Order: sequence, then structure tokens, then C-alpha cells
Amino acid sequence: MIETAKVHKILYGGDYNPEQWPEETWEEDMRLLSAAHIDVVTLNVFSWASLQSDDDVYHFRKLDKIMDMVKKHGMKVCLATATGAHPAWMARKHPDILRTEFNGMKRKFGSRHNSCPNSPAYRNFAPKLAAKLADRYKDYDNIVAWHISNEFGGMCYCENCERRFREWLKEKYQTIDEVNRAWDTAFWGHTFYDFDDIVVPNMLSEHFAPNRTTFQGISLDYKRFNSDSILDCFRLEYDAVHAVTPDIPITTNLMGAYQELDYQKWAKYMDFISWDNYPSNDTPIEDTALRHDLMRGLKQGKPFALMEQTPSVTNWLPYNSLKRPGVMRLWSYQAVAHGADTVMFFQMKRSIGACEKYHGAVIDHAGHENTRVFREITQLGEELDKIGSLTLGARTHAKAAVVFDWDNWWATDYSAGPSVSLHYYDEVLTYYKAFHSLNIPVDMISVEDDLSDYAFVVAPLLYMVKSGYDEKLRAYVKDGGRFLTTFFSGYVDEHDLVTVGGYPGRLRDILGIWVEEEDALPENESNSFTYRGTSYPASLLCDLLHTEGAEALAFYEKDFYAGMPVLTRNEFGKGCAYYVASHSNAAFYRTFIGEICKEAGIQPTMETPEAVEVTERTNENGTFLFFLNHEDQSHDIILNHAGADILTDMSYKKGNTLTLPAKGVAILRVQ
Ligand code: GLA
Ligand code: ZN
Repeated sequence: MIETAKVHKILYGGDYNPEQWPEETWEEDMRLLSAAHIDVVTLNVFSWASLQSDDDVYHFRKLDKIMDMVKKHGMKVCLATATGAHPAWMARKHPDILRTEFNGMKRKFGSRHNSCPNSPAYRNFAPKLAAKLADRYKDYDNIVAWHISNEFGGMCYCENCERRFREWLKEKYQTIDEVNRAWDTAFWGHTFYDFDDIVVPNMLSEHFAPNRTTFQGISLDYKRFNSDSILDCFRLEYDAVHAVTPDIPITTNLMGAYQELDYQKWAKYMDFISWDNYPSNDTPIEDTALRHDLMRGLKQGKPFALMEQTPSVTNWLPYNSLKRPGVMRLWSYQAVAHGADTVMFFQMKRSIGACEKYHGAVIDHAGHENTRVFREITQLGEELDKIGSLTLGARTHAKAAVVFDWDNWWATDYSAGPSVSLHYYDEVLTYYKAFHSLNIPVDMISVEDDLSDYAFVVAPLLYMVKSGYDEKLRAYVKDGGRFLTTFFSGYVDEHDLVTVGGYPGRLRDILGIWVEEEDALPENESNSFTYRGTSYPASLLCDLLHTEGAEALAFYEKDFYAGMPVLTRNEFGKGCAYYVASHSNAAFYRTFIGEICKEAGIQPTMETPEAVEVTERTNENGTFLFFLNHEDQSHDIILNHAGADILTDMSYKKGNTLTLPAKGVAILRVQ
């Protein structure tokens, strides 16, 4: 899809499930989709049951027919491998395919995304089907991408997984002594004498209510193992189709900030990133922006595909409110503004039965084009035709980065203590919001990414410092970089074993501090500090720290630790490292982050009214500034660049006012 010679515009379309409809209705669907300027359909997502009726019995007639029809109508295909839900007969005949839940309950056939990743049957049948599909459709030159399975995810705790977990541990640790060391099994007499002593950490073993674990090391490894197991399934199918169609890029639809799977590891095995974006009407704009940036970061800034979003409404929220007029368009452009090269939907046509029959679609139950949603989709389709290839492949050049790490997400969530209110994602979002409010673009990076392009790197809650990461940070700061981290950082190594000698462990010298204790504050309590004459709250966690070379910038004002530093700055080599020892409010983060950015020479993309998001993407066609008005009232922007809006062709001189209507969008091609 991305980077193929077959794509010359922002692809527009999404999931179409013709197997749910009588064949005689397909032509009319094609007419409607073409009328809406749809040019790509994702086919075959949930067709396993219709494609295979027994171990060796396959039926492709229906898919042949729809593939031909789609091609005849000039549409591209994102071809799914159909393995997101196994057939009922397969579950009956090969029950090892069924998952076992956290509580030990073995599932029956039902629902979807329900196959055990270590099931021999699943690992046999899924890649076999993928290979057959590749072989059958390899000559269709309108296939722009492979879509492996659908929204991989979840966890399994069955006996096959347990057996495989032991093998995975053997590969990782070699000896049982090493496992015992890594998990600190001397605690509570857990010493394992044999790999066969090890059981899966679930409700029947290490569960510690409400959702914690008594052995972080075991549970953490199980998360890694589960993510790897599912990744293996993706890779089996990847290899099967890649062997036949090496030129067709392969993806699977990710889910943004989805905790169960380490997407940074997954990304290495995907040809391009695609993801499904389902904000609700009250999701903060920055939260969606972060998720887009996280997806863009998975492949070091390469554009991604927006694989799914709803045209209007979902079916799975408690209150499935409509996207208000203009919002589908606005959020589609928000995706493009953050790096998407496609705009796609779930789904093309509303089902008549089961749980998604009230989920939004391009073709509604009414069955015709005279609907608000259809009109909005058509209007956007016309605009995307007009944009053509202009923005394809464009990159965002951020000088600031926020570190996001799945191991840290898992480890902090599993941690028993210091506070149930500590949430990794929320803490990362807090910092992301500060950059966003300042219109300063950031890259969401992994701990493996290179830091040398960044003037400022923020790693909120860097609780776990994996081997070598402190060295990378040390070199980065020594070399002139600016680094900021927070309370509850540097505590443990990759096994969740504490680095003794004082927190923040391996980061101590970089930060020039020593943390002696941390105080968890209940939700309605806070301490305070004054920074540059303004008072700010200190809540959630308060580290009690001593400086060891760092300069204290602010101090706690209450309780027995009044007078101890809460904010520090340490000159280290040519750079500087900051420590924020507690959680504060948005005003503080904006001020502090803004100051450091200024110091680091990082400029905002532009000044805009608060409700107007602005991003920048650059390619060989030029630099594009995306303006997105998230409010219900219009806003004026004084342009500091000359340029033309590629949506309206209106030209602007530097200093001119661009008026964005309520929920309006402008894309200025800078001159
Ligand atoms: C996911 C799935 C789709 C559909 C939508 C509904 O993204 O991939 O099949 O179920 O959710 O929102
Ligand atoms: Zn299993």
C-alpha cells in the first residue's frame, strides 16, 4: 500500500464484507462506493468459514467473483487473510485452537480473535490459507497490500501456551538457575527446580487482586511471551504470502496504544504500519494525536495507513453518539496531519445481524446515497481526489521526542505499590499534551531509537532502565542533549529487579540526584511548590530526593519534606538533565516544557488559537501545514508563511489571516 508504484493518492475506502450479502446486491454496492469516491476495499477479513469447510476443502468461487468485480470497477484491494476468526467446524474438530482465559476457563467456539497463538491447528491452518490466497490472487495487479488476520490481540493461558512458555524461557535464560535469579524466586519460597515446575501466571497462580501479580518477573515475561507468540502467528502468515508475492507490502491492523502487544517489536516484522482509530466524542484531541504519533514512530517516522475508523458511530460504547457533522472529515485529516497516507473506514456496508448492525458504514441500512453520512464521505472523497499524491510520503521533522516503552507500561501497571493511581500511559500523555499545547511536534520513540536527531528527549516514568539504555542517555546528554525524566524512574532493570544503591539507579549520575523515599498521595491530597513565582500542585507521588550535583529549581512546601527539591536540573557534559519529582498540572508542564524547548532552540510549528491543532509534513512536493479547528466556532490564524490551501486553492501572503470555520481544516502548501 505505502511505497508501492500502484498508489498515487491517499487511498480511500475500507472493510467490505460481501459474504454477508446476496451476490445480486454487489453491483449496486460497487456503484455506491464509486459514487462516494471510494478507491480501495479491504476484502476477506472474516471469511475463513466461507473459504474452508474442512481440513483440506477450500472454496474460492465467491471471493474470485468479488475480486473480479472490484477490479472491474477500478478499485484497489487490501486483501485480508481471513484468519481473524476461525470456523466453527475447526473448533469442533481441533479444540486446541480454543483459548483459555485468565481465570482458567477454556472457551468454546464463539466471538472472534479467539484462536490460541500456540495451537498447532491454528499455526497449521492459518498460514496454509494465507499461502493459498496468495497463490490464487497473485496476478491481481490491484492488490495494494496484504492485511494479515485482524486486530491481533488478547492473551491465552492454555496448556499449549504453558508448554511453549517453558521453551521460551529455556531459550531466553538457558538454565533454571538464571530463571530463579531473574524472577527473584527466593521470595515466598518460589524456587523452581525444573522448567516443568513453572505454570502460567493467571488467576489460578500468581493473581493479586484487583489486576496485579504477586510475581512481577513472571507476569512480565508472560506478557512478552504472549506478544511474541502472537507475533509468530503474524510472521507465519507473513512468510506464507511474502514467498508468493514478494512485491506486495504486508501489514496487520494495529490498535494504537494497545497494551497487550509490544508493537515496537512487531513493527520490525511489518512492511508498513496500519492502525484502527476509534476515539469517542469525548476523547481528548491530544490523546488521538499521541496515538497517531505513536504509530508513526513505530517505523521511525514513516507514514502509516489509517486502516479503520467509523464514518459515524460505533456499536461498542455505552452511548454511541454520532460523530457531529464535519467531525469525520476533521478526524480523517487529523490522521493525515500526523502521518497517515490513507483514510479508511470500518465499514463499507452495515450488517443486518449480530453485534455490529448498528455500527456506522458508508452504505447505511437505508441502502441509498441520500444520507448525511454518505454525503460527508463523498465530499471528503472528492477532496482526497483533488489532493492526489501531493502529501504522500511526507515526513514530520520533530526535534523533541517522548519515549514510550511497552515493558515500562507492563512493569509499572504490574507493580504492587507505590500507588494504584499510577498509570504509565496517562503520565506519558501528560507530557505529550504539553508539547501539543505549544504546537511543538514530537516523535514518539522506543528505547531502541537513535537520539542524536533530538534536542530534547522526555521519558516519563522511565521505571525500568533496560541494559544499555542508561549508557545511551548518558552519551546523549554528554553530547549536548536535553533529557527529562520523572518520579518512579530508574528503579529496576529489565527483570523488574531493583537497582540497589539508591534511586534512580543507573540514571543517578546523569540526573545528579539521589531519591531516598517516595510518598504516594491519595487522589484528593496534594503538596505544592512554587516555580518562577507561580504555585503548582504536587500530587500522585512525591519523591524525597537529595541533590548530588544537580541544581534544585523548586521545593516542596508542605509536610515533613517541605524544603526538599521537587524539580532539579543537572548540567552533564555539554547537555542537561531534568528531574520532575512529582505529578503536577497542565499549566506547569506547559511552562516547564516550553522553557526547556526554548533553551534547546526548538520552535513551535506556529502560534495558533488553543483549539486549532497545527502540524507540519514535508516531502519533495514541499512543506504542508495542517490546520485543524477542533471547536464549534471559527478561528482566525495569522499566517507567518505565504502559501496556498490545497483544499480551496486560496492563496495567502505572509501575515494574511486564514479563517477556519467550525471544525474546519486547511492544508497550506508553504511557498
Ligand atoms: C475493529 C475491527 C472491526 C470492527 C470495528 C468496530 O476495529 O477490526 O472488524 O469490529 O472494530 O468498531
Ligand atoms: Zn493457548
